[in-house]
Amino acid sequence: APLKPHNTFGVAVSARWFTTLSELADLPALIASAPYREGPVLFLGGGSNVLFTRDYPGLVVKLALSGVGKIAEDETSVVVEAAAGEPWHSFVQRTLAEGWYGLENLSLIPGTIGAAPIQNIGAYGVEVKDTLTEVVCADLDNGGAPLTLANADCRFGYRDSVFKREAAGRLLVTAVRFRLSKTPQLKTGYGDIAGELSRMGVTTPTPRDVADAVIRIRQSKLPDPARLGNAGSFFKNPIVDAAAAALLLERFPALPHYPAGDGRVKLAAGWLIDNAGLKGHRVGDAAVHERQALVLVNHGGASGQQIRALAATVQDAVRERYGVLLEPEPVVL
Ligand code: EPU
Repeated sequence: APLKPHNTFGVAVSARWFTTLSELADLPALIASAPYREGPVLFLGGGSNVLFTRDYPGLVVKLALSGVGKIAEDETSVVVEAAAGEPWHSFVQRTLAEGWYGLENLSLIPGTIGAAPIQNIGAYGVEVKDTLTEVVCADLDNGGAPLTLANADCRFGYRDSVFKREAAGRLLVTAVRFRLSKTPQLKTGYGDIAGELSRMGVTTPTPRDVADAVIRIRQSKLPDPARLGNAGSFFKNPIVDAAAAALLLERFPALPHYPAGDGRVKLAAGWLIDNAGLKGHRVGDAAVHERQALVLVNHGGASGQQIRALAATVQDAVRERYGVLLEPEPVVL
């Protein structure tokens, strides 16, 4: 089965077997099926955080579990549950329309609800872990039995969680629960949100305004995967110790950096790549995006191997120039 429609890089590979899971009740039969047992098995959401470098030798399961609903409410907040296959951005817009706040800064992130906790998606000073209360999973080693993890059990970190580590391949995220506030608590301090709001002529912003500002900023520098293949940031922002950061900042005083706890420092990988002269660098159809160097793009015909080769070129240049190792953010298969 062709996987090109199922990965936002638009890489033309295929899977030996492919199926769609629309109902949780079908999971036990899927687990018992011959292709599943033969393996390997890959569960895919929106395909916005994966780079295929070859045909997938086993079963790809597209998660299409749907449904959004309020499951609890008190005077100040609601708990909302969304199924894994729901598109992230539409869910966020719906919460805002309902008057449930807290996710506005996470507007326009590609992908699905189910993928959100896996890498603890984040943008503009907010991460999914800030409002997430529980993740409902299916235990794949136990016939798909339900298992609910509390926020603390997920061991969230920067673009990291238990689902990328100990639970990888064992726990399938089937739904996510969030506690959202009925009163706005806006976070406009990060990046250019305040500047964008004033360009919009907004003086007393609502959560909807903040979402619109984020949407405008993202649209100005992040390519739309429907038009230009990409998987968002291709690298994580590297975190270095205080001594390494001090040395780098002496040599590169303009390097944007943020405290990362324990005296460590998070560096802007996009700046490192940009300042190494690689913004817009293109080899065939694989390229470093012209407006945000942290994003690798496919101008149409790039293979996953060509994109991976470009990523290696970027990593080598950054290591040579700054002595910093860039780690890929998407799963490279
Ligand atoms: N910069 C450059 N040149 C570039 C890109 C960035 O000089 O080509 C500088 C910017 O001027 C800015 C700094 O680097 O001073 C940081 O850039 P930006 O605010 O665009 O954010 P980022 O660190 O590159 C991170 C997330 C994004 C998220 C934005 C906004 C990671 C890996 N990426 O990017 O998330 O949208 O912050 O919060 O943490 C994603 O994960 O896919 C993603 C897009």
